[in-house]
Amino acid sequence: METIRKAVLPVAGWGTRFLPATKAMPKEMFPIIDKPVIQFIVEELLEAGIENVIFVTGRHKRPIEHHFDINTDLERHLEEAGKEEILKNIREISHMANPIYVRQKEQLGLGHAVLTAEPVVGYEPFLVSLGDIILENGSGALKDMIDIYNRFGKSVIALFEVAPEEVSKYGIAKVKEIEDGVYIIEDLVEKPLPEEAPSNLAIVGRYIFTPKIFDKLKETKPGKGGEIQLTDAMRLLLEEEAIYAYKFSGKVYDTGNPLDYLKTVFEFALKREDIAEELTQFIQEALSKRTQSIDIP
Ligand code: UTP
Repeated sequence: METIRKAVLPVAGWGTRFLPATKAMPKEMFPIIDKPVIQFIVEELLEAGIENVIFVTGRHKRPIEHHFDINTDLERHLEEAGKEEILKNIREISHMANPIYVRQKEQLGLGHAVLTAEPVVGYEPFLVSLGDIILENGSGALKDMIDIYNRFGKSVIALFEVAPEEVSKYGIAKVKEIEDGVYIIEDLVEKPLPEEAPSNLAIVGRYIFTPKIFDKLKETKPGKGGEIQLTDAMRLLLEEEAIYAYKFSGKVYDTGNPLDYLKTVFEFALKREDIAEELTQFIQEALSKRTQSIDIP
């Protein structure tokens, strides 16, 4: 059985929930304090042993390429300024992954983005990580998923529990538990009404696929908004192959919309020794003034 060597990171989406900020800047480059979201996701992959990272990008996503490239001018400047520590960090980022960039010329959906990577992935199993979701101890979750793949040789998706009233925001799975924390998928429903949801286990944005998914993506008809949905292709795959699921029990940080992004930034900031104390004080003062009206420009 082939091992998982490659990961596909679809980062070509419009990011409409974050406009106008995403008009010229990819949401994947938004900082969690001082590190862009996408770097957390690449680090997670590298820690899990994946070396080849295939970014599916679009024309407004160039900053992602620059971030993982060498910036000799900046390195020279930092060297001359004697800023050794940050220089070391900047050099590490330039050598962190073996990035490959594929263009999705039209944003025809997540499924279409994954299919765009087919010529680079080839006929082997691969991982998909969404570019705007950070997982707590994400590399541990990926390693567990890879273990499940190595045992069963079939696709594996990560699920997490959501509140029943939240199911309509996610792809939801009907599952059967086969052992502690490991499930087999029986059906998948995209954004169901709470009363129609088969469970409260939502797809979290980490997947391992056998290459058969590419055939299924080619057969998938465009759905809502003319987009080719990955969930629809997974339903077709289910007719032919088993899909396993791994239940992720850590925290999920969705950075693709303003409120959850802000929550993520605060939570990470409160974990940072150099920031936490002053930030806490600031929040307390801000809360105590909350009843006063504040004009925000
Ligand atoms: P999202 O559902 O978050 O879509 O896509 P989006 O376009 O980025 O954001 P909104 O909904 O308009 O605010 C999930 C992932 O799939 C990628 C996105 O970049 C994101 O990482 N994606 C989506 C593509 O690469 N191509 C697409 O055509 C659509």
